[in-house]
Order: sequence, then C-alpha cells, then structure tokens
Amino acid sequence: MRIHTILSGSLLLTATAAWNTDVHNQIGFMAEEFLNPYTTSILQQILEPQYNGSIGRATAWADAYAHTEEGKFSYQWHWIDSSDDPPLLCDISYVRDCSKGGCVVSAISNQTHILKSCIDNVRSGNLRGGTNLTCSYALKWVSHFLGDVAQPLHASGRAAGGNRINVTFGGVSTELHAVWDGYIPYSDANVTQFSNLSISPFFTSLVSRIRENNFSEPTSQWLSCTDPSAPLACAFAWARESNALTCNYVYNRPLNNTDLATSGYAEGAYPIVELQISKAALRLGTWLNRLVERRYNPNGQVILKTNPSWADGSSGAQ
Ligand SMILES: *[C@@H]1O[C@H](CO)[C@@H](O)[C@H](O)[C@H]1NC(C)=O
Ligand SMILES: *[C@@H]1O[C@H](CO)[C@@H](O)[C@H](O)[C@H]1NC(C)=O
Ligand SMILES: *[C@@H]1O[C@H](CO)[C@@H](O)[C@H](O)[C@H]1NC(C)=O
Ligand SMILES: *[C@@H]1O[C@H](CO)[C@@H](O)[C@H](O)[C@H]1NC(C)=O
Ligand SMILES: *[C@@H]1O[C@H](CO)[C@@H](O)[C@H](O)[C@H]1NC(C)=O
Ligand SMILES: *[C@@H]1O[C@H](CO)[C@@H](O)[C@H](O)[C@H]1NC(C)=O
Ligand SMILES: *[C@@H]1O[C@H](CO)[C@@H](O)[C@H](O)[C@H]1NC(C)=O
Ligand SMILES: *[C@@H]1O[C@H](CO)[C@@H](O)[C@H](O)[C@H]1NC(C)=O
Repeated sequence: MRIHTILSGSLLLTATAAWNTDVHNQIGFMAEEFLNPYTTSILQQILEPQYNGSIGRATAWADAYAHTEEGKFSYQWHWIDSSDDPPLLCDISYVRDCSKGGCVVSAISNQTHILKSCIDNVRSGNLRGGTNLTCSYALKWVSHFLGDVAQPLHASGRAAGGNRINVTFGGVSTELHAVWDGYIPYSDANVTQFSNLSISPFFTSLVSRIRENNFSEPTSQWLSCTDPSAPLACAFAWARESNALTCNYVYNRPLNNTDLATSGYAEGAYPIVELQISKAALRLGTWLNRLVERRYNPNGQVILKTNPSWADGSSGAQ
C-alpha cells in the first residue's frame, strides 16, 4: 500500500496514489493486447529504451515520479476530489472539483494533446528512440491516468478518497482506499502480487472476456466516449462513472466491525473491479490506436461505434 502525506493549505491529508503499481502494469499489458501493430511501432519510438516498447512496463512510472522532488507537481493529477457525500449523494463537477494545478481529468486532457503532437513527431521522423522526455512522459501519464480514473476512490473526495476510513481486510488493519487499490484485486485473483514484466493469467482472462463481450454491460458501451479529440469530456465522463460507484457500492455496505475479506464486501466488489480494470484497458488501447491512426473527429464530436469489431482494435471509426 502506498500511503502518502500531502500538505493542502493548512490541512494535512493522507492519500494513496493509485491502483497498486503492479495493477497499473497489468492494465497496460491488457491494453497492449488491443493495440494495432502500427500503433505499437509508433509508441515504441516515444518510450525510452528501458521499457522495451512496452506500455505495460511503463504504466507504473507516474507514481514513482510523483514522489520525486522534480515530479511532485504531478502528484495531484492522479485523482479528482468530488465534494459530495456518498452513499447519500454522489456528484462531481469539473469546474468545482478539479483543483488549481490540475486533477486526473485535466491531466488526461493535457497529456493527450501533447501526445498527439508527439505522434506527429514520430511520423515526420523527428522523434526516435524515446529521446523527447515531454513525449515519453505524456504517453506514460496517459497510460497511468486512464487506469486511475477508473478506480472509484480516485473520483471521490470523501475522507481523502477513503484514505481516512479505517477498515479490516483479511485480519489486517488498513484503510478503504488501499482495499480498492490492491487487496480486492489480489484477493479476486488469489495472489499476493502481479508481474511487472508481462501479463498475468487473471488479466489474460479479462482480455478474453472483453473480446467475448462477457460483462454485465456491453463492452461497446464502454467506448461511447472514447474520442481523443474530446479528451476533457471523455475523462470527465469516466470520472463521473467511477464516482457513481462510491454511492452504488463502495460506501453503501457495512465497513466497520466487519472483515471486508469475509463479510461479502470483497466478493461483491470483484465484478466491479474486474469491470473497471477492463474498461480502463480497453479504453486505453482504443485511445492510443485512435490517436496514432487519427481515427478521431477533428471537430471534437464523440464517435460512437456500434460494430463490436472494435474489440480487436482493427476497424476504423464510423
Ligand atoms: C523486448 O521486446 C522484444 C520484442 O517485443 C522481445 O523479443 C524481447 O525479448 C524483449 N526484451 C526484453 C529484455 O524483455
Ligand atoms: C500540461 O502539461 C505540461 C507538460 O507536462 C505541464 O508543464 C503543464 O503544467 C500541464 N498543464 C496542466 C494544466 O496540467
Ligand atoms: C518534444 O516534443 C514536444 C511535443 O511535441 C515539442 O514541443 C518539443 O519541441 C520537442 N522537443 C524537442 C527537443 O524536439
Ligand atoms: C485510523 O487508524 C489510525 C491508526 O492506524 C488512527 O490514528 C486514526 O485515529 C484512525 N481513524 C479513525 C477515524 O478511527
Ligand atoms: C488460492 O491459492 C491457494 C494457494 O495457492 C490455494 O491453496 C487455494 O486453493 C486457492 N483458492 C482458490 C479459491 O483458488
Ligand atoms: C518488478 O518486480 C520485481 C519483483 O517483485 C521487483 O524486484 C522490481 O523492482 C520491479 N520492477 C519495477 C520497475 O518496479
Ligand atoms: C462468461 O463468463 C462466465 C463466467 O466468467 C462463463 O461461465 C461463461 O462461459 C462465459 N461466457 C462466454 C460466452 O464466454
Ligand atoms: C462505523 O461507520 C459509520 C459510518 O461510516 C460511522 O458513522 C461510525 O462512526 C463507525 N463506527 C465506528 C466504531 O468506527
């Protein structure tokens, strides 16, 4: 678990950064399964050589960077703190809730705009071998933040994203944010950690389920807003969806005087975590394909696709 202390005005808040780093890696490895070969070849030139062209290996960088002196400005880009009161009221507003200095919604938008120009740099032969850090960082941030925005407690301001809600999980005293970042995915997969080098079986099976459209909501719906020319609107729509889950489930079940691993809370959360992780991965793969192939509406209108063949990433926007 990654617990951090930040100074916000005169209030001392604790906050965790994200899905655990290995869960981020896995979301990236899942997304790679949806990339077209051409997308992969372009992105390889943007990433620094140490990642060997793998988005999955690069997805966890943003957490480490946020905790360096140089990168601390990006720390708050990992979430958006709604001013609501789940489970009674869920409500998120971009204007009200995105702090000065940025939030996950503005960061997705900003870094997507930068990434567009980086892709042009590669196409025009001006960028090779990950030599432009503005570009490498933009790709790593986009890959990371599309994961973060899908974690319900990254779009919730109550108790600093659940960091101040003490709970017990499997006999361990922890807090609610950490439960969603790591305990629930590990428990669902029955492992203690995931690989940071290649896709793990639990996530391979999620990729299969995406391709088979085997989720509680049709996978095509996940892409109803996936237009990289409207990144603010899409990132906000994804945050709103995550925020709603804090009323529908996260805070809507008993949290204290119970062990969340055995009370039924974890079991009830598994389908939600599987859904959110899968959405993040498919959206990331689709986002990157569309950026590279310029499959987006230059006028910023959302492109809706009804043909489920998007799942292999190979068909163009309608
Ligand atoms: C780097 O990627 C290539 C092709 O994707 C692969 O064959 C090679 O084994 C990878 N190297 C490492 C060190 O992972
Ligand atoms: C946009 O990204 C650039 C480069 O990473 C950064 O310097 C700037 O602060 C960002 N702006 C916002 C509003 O996030
Ligand atoms: C790096 O890429 C950014 C974004 O496209 C661009 O503004 C900048 O000029 C590039 N830097 C170099 C040294 O080419
Ligand atoms: C949560 O636990 C910490 C110690 O782990 C303690 O300092 C804090 O007071 C607890 N918060 C509540 C609301 O019980
Ligand atoms: C979880 O893993 C443990 C140890 O690998 C194994 O004994 C157990 O049967 C597994 N449980 C499930 C439900 O797969
Ligand atoms: C990847 O995982 C291994 C084993 O858990 C760890 O030693 C290594 O530091 C990790 N690498 C990165 C870049 O996080
Ligand atoms: C969907 O998933 C369930 C459980 O994960 C499985 O039993 C079922 O066979 C799957 N259906 C298809 C069409 O893949
Ligand atoms: C249990 O949770 C409720 C709702 O979050 C809270 O009001 C109450 O103080 C908690 N009780 C204890 C003993 O922590």
